[in-house]
Amino acid sequence: MGTALLKDASVQPESERAEWIEAFRRVRGETERRAAPLSAEDQIVQSMPDASPTKWHRAHTTWFFEAFLLQPHDKGYRVFDPRFAFLFNSYYVAAGPRHARPKRGLITRPNAEEVTAYRVHVDAAVERLIDTAGAADWPETRRILEIGLNHEEQHQELILTDILHAFAQNPTAPAYDVRWSPPQARSETSYAELPEGIHTIGHQGDGYCFDNEGPAHRVLVGPVRIARGLVTNREWLAFMQDDGYANAALWLSDGFAAVQNEGWQAPGYWIEVDGEWHQLTLAGLKPVDPAAPVTHVSYYEAEAFARWAGKHLPTEAEWEVAARGGQLADAYGIVWQWTRSAYLPYPGFAACDGALGEYNGKFMISQMVLRGASLATPAGHSRVSYRNFFYPAARWQFSGLRLVDYAERFHLS
Ligand SMILES: [Fe+2]
Repeated sequence: MGTALLKDASVQPESERAEWIEAFRRVRGETERRAAPLSAEDQIVQSMPDASPTKWHRAHTTWFFEAFLLQPHDKGYRVFDPRFAFLFNSYYVAAGPRHARPKRGLITRPNAEEVTAYRVHVDAAVERLIDTAGAADWPETRRILEIGLNHEEQHQELILTDILHAFAQNPTAPAYDVRWSPPQARSETSYAELPEGIHTIGHQGDGYCFDNEGPAHRVLVGPVRIARGLVTNREWLAFMQDDGYANAALWLSDGFAAVQNEGWQAPGYWIEVDGEWHQLTLAGLKPVDPAAPVTHVSYYEAEAFARWAGKHLPTEAEWEVAARGGQLADAYGIVWQWTRSAYLPYPGFAACDGALGEYNGKFMISQMVLRGASLATPAGHSRVSYRNFFYPAARWQFSGLRLVDYAERFHLS
């Protein structure tokens, strides 16, 4: 099958459906595990238009299976509540009208318990469909199921990033999980050489990918040196101490406007307590660890930092070529890494047909690509061709950076 969702990728047809039921239960269960530490009150709040309530994530991922898998492919399916399509459709114009995104936090009904019942209802129906779909319908059922599970994994990450943003509005700095501890970075300081060459980037092979990862195509990369490690808090503190946030010469015009409008003086969730920088983490307020990779910085901040350091952010092609070559430490599992590549369609990109064609393609404007994966990304969800994307001012994700250096290319060193 070539999917990261199944434990056995070479599964035989007779056991394939059982494997999919297991994968479905595992992914659906992970969403509930991530929501479990949160009270019903925690699950309602929406702290900004970009962040959604936990309860909404739990319901929206369920609506996704109802709208795109059960209703079109299960003739006997009974919709749980016809009002939910309006409440829990995110942005699929082809799937009908929807509630305004910035007002998701005003929806107190259905309550968290009713959303749990919605999940149970849809879970049972999906498992029944996996079991009973006819041989002719199975490939399409499996295709939508796989998209639905990958979609739900994306929302699992958002459950954590969105609740952290909500907790950051609370002066008591609540902890999502007091036992949580940050993953350890490898603290590499060296640079890897990428000699000039033509490389293939984009998704290859028969495993799962989102449509924005293809088509694979050839690119010219290098010569360039790319940092094996991530930029650390220690380096970021040096940028701050050098008046990095006040020096307009370091910033893009839009970036400096954001610094002034938002009052940015440090990465997101940084708070000075008794002269010492602290950061709100999933475990609550903790002293900033100088050795840890910097996180919660926007593209604008990452770009200004690179300029201050006399270096650059990598292009997404440089990142992918280096990652494919095993030259990057901490490529996954700590922070997404900003690239200086605009989020654009690859040559020959075609969105898939129908409402699911709205998944990625219509967002290919005004956003920047991030590569890798963060500590909030579910296990097995990341891959080398994965393209994440956010607006350049966004910093509520676990977003950091690594640098590239072109000095040798221009004989500057
Ligand atoms: Fe979604």
